[in-house]
Amino acid sequence: MPRHFLSVTDFSPAEVADLLNLANDIKVQPDKYRGALAGQTLAMIFQKKSTRTRVSFEVGMYQLGGHALFLSASDIQIGRGETIADTARVISRYCNGIMARVYGHEIVEELAQHASVPIINGLSDLEHPCQTVCDAQTLVEHWSPAGTFDVGVLRGKTLCYVGDGNNMAHSLLDVGAATGMNVTIVSPQGYQPDVNIVARCKLLAMETGSLIRVTDDIENGPRGADCIYTDVWASMGQEEEHAKRLKEFAGYMVDETMMGRANPGCLFMHCLPAHRGEEVSAEVVDGPRSIIFDEAENRLHVQKAILVTLMSKH
Ligand code: CP
Ligand code: NVA
Repeated sequence: MPRHFLSVTDFSPAEVADLLNLANDIKVQPDKYRGALAGQTLAMIFQKKSTRTRVSFEVGMYQLGGHALFLSASDIQIGRGETIADTARVISRYCNGIMARVYGHEIVEELAQHASVPIINGLSDLEHPCQTVCDAQTLVEHWSPAGTFDVGVLRGKTLCYVGDGNNMAHSLLDVGAATGMNVTIVSPQGYQPDVNIVARCKLLAMETGSLIRVTDDIENGPRGADCIYTDVWASMGQEEEHAKRLKEFAGYMVDETMMGRANPGCLFMHCLPAHRGEEVSAEVVDGPRSIIFDEAENRLHVQKAILVTLMSKH
């Protein structure tokens, strides 16, 4: 049975720590991994648009000695009604892994059920696990003493996510619960994260010591935060709700006032793409506390770590 990565919870807390350490090793010593996936091919199925995920997986496969195929869902037979199950079985006969960016999370689950190669969730409506492992790597780098990479620094630190309780919020909760980092989600009523995901994180947090909170209190929620994170208010597939959401999220923009409620030195993160003047002010996203491009870069190192973990034949 192949190993899949549909959710951060597919990995135990110890395995998440191993993944982070591997991503750092790959970043520091890329040459050591040059042939790790020699001759292997990753199929990349996209139902939605992408810049970072597509480029980092494609470049990552190349750097590991393999190859990646970009398959727009509208250009392959899935777009004409071929079943997910048949697609998974057929691609498994040609390729060594499949990364998929989809609408419904059940699509990556169905791929995993029928594929005989690893399936990687490159974003679903429910979760974006590759992104938040990368976010954890970025925070470890920023919070570790100079010249070191200590995953333990996440314990007791607080990440506050402000905005839509979406795929990003869910996977940030998962990565916080796995690493012992506290996560506060500040979202308006009606846009708070999935209660089942919050419950599973609270359960895991009892083991790892992280504190999981969900609130709509925009004044007090960000207090004590060491990092404030946000994402778009209308995700891919919700474009027609954009105008309505602009109204419902009024007051939730991350600006200097909101950053001022957090701890001194609080960092700012965003998975990107960002909408300046909506979920974040230009002053914050382009300001000195923003680490968005370190974060974007780390997508490459984390994708490579995920690919090596799932696909190398050790
Ligand atoms: N953050 C992220 O997944 O970016 P893309 O949508 O560009 O892949
Ligand atoms: N929540 C956003 C994340 C994009 C990387 C979306 O799903 O569109």
